[in-house]
Amino acid sequence: MGVDVQVTNLTKQFGKQLIWKGVTLTLPAGEISVMLGPSGTGKSVFLKALIGLIKPDEGSIVIEGTDIASCSEKELYEIRKLFGVLFQDGAMFGSMNLYDNVAFPLREHTKKSESEIRDIVMEKMDMVGLLGAEMKLPGEISGGMRKRAGLARALVLDPEILLIDEPDSGLDPVRTSFINQLFVDLNAQIDATFLIVTHDIHSVRVVPDQIGLLYHKHLAMYGPREMLLSSDEPVVRQFLNAQTIGPIGMSEEKDADQLAAEKDMDLPPLPPIPLQMEPSNGIPRRAQRPAGEWCRLNGVTPPPGSFTREAEHASGHQS
Ligand SMILES: Nc1ncnc2c1ncn2[C@@H]1O[C@H](COP(=O)(O)OP(=O)(O)OP(=O)(O)O)[C@@H](O)[C@H]1O
Ligand SMILES: [Mg+2]
Repeated sequence: MGVDVQVTNLTKQFGKQLIWKGVTLTLPAGEISVMLGPSGTGKSVFLKALIGLIKPDEGSIVIEGTDIASCSEKELYEIRKLFGVLFQDGAMFGSMNLYDNVAFPLREHTKKSESEIRDIVMEKMDMVGLLGAEMKLPGEISGGMRKRAGLARALVLDPEILLIDEPDSGLDPVRTSFINQLFVDLNAQIDATFLIVTHDIHSVRVVPDQIGLLYHKHLAMYGPREMLLSSDEPVVRQFLNAQTIGPIGMSEEKDADQLAAEKDMDLPPLPPIPLQMEPSNGIPRRAQRPAGEWCRLNGVTPPPGSFTREAEHASGHQS
């Protein structure tokens, strides 16, 4: 069914280095959220905090009444069973074939028999389109296949919450589109709460229900896709439209001179908001809202041409 994840006032420091401060957001149950941010802004640290691998210095992360930031090891162990995680590096065991990699969490965390395990592993391999590749070693398959195998492994315990760190890094645009479709289809099928970290702007524009942006040691904005894609807030606008004009420079922040020089430049218009990707498996997504609903309810005029097939096309060609 998916569960809410309520994050309140979360702060993390490593020694003297502040990573982020005062992060507050709720990942809504069953919805797909995407977290963005320049490299090094602590997206992976945020995911690790959500599953209790990294302890925040302040704040709470409440899931089904338990605060991950302050609960006991025993409670944490129980709560972790709700999660499926795909780490940034895939983290497959190199000496185990895909079957054993995917079976690993079941052998580790359940008392299921080998024949029950076999059914589950084959079902998940099928879901991610890897049937027939069970006996391959991680080193013998492509990067895209490794990501999908990692995803199969993240799915075996029937997660309520799926955390996915840069599924598309190193993938070509076609494979990225396939993996995006897979997320949308999976979300329709298992109805889990998704949080995906990505740098791929096209994915960000078409996949999620909610978008968040970490920037300059805080959560700059988090909210519905249409809110961020129509936003004039300079950092959000620059990041979501992959523009060079704006507060974000090559090394995090531009200096005052550079910003002053840009002051009189005309910003390119906001591109149209594309339609959200729909499931291809015929199962409706519970979280999917009608196109343009957020804009209508909030009296926001979307950029011209939004929510048309053409907008989808235009957005696909943006880099
Ligand atoms: N265990 C750790 N101990 C100390 N510092 C850490 C640790 N983990 C991460 N950091 C630091 O926290 C900062 C944020 O790292 P993180 O990996 O979360 O960035 P990111 O936003 O995921 O970047 P990218 O987009 O490149 O993956 C970095 O400066 C990193 O060096
Ligand atoms: Mg990262």
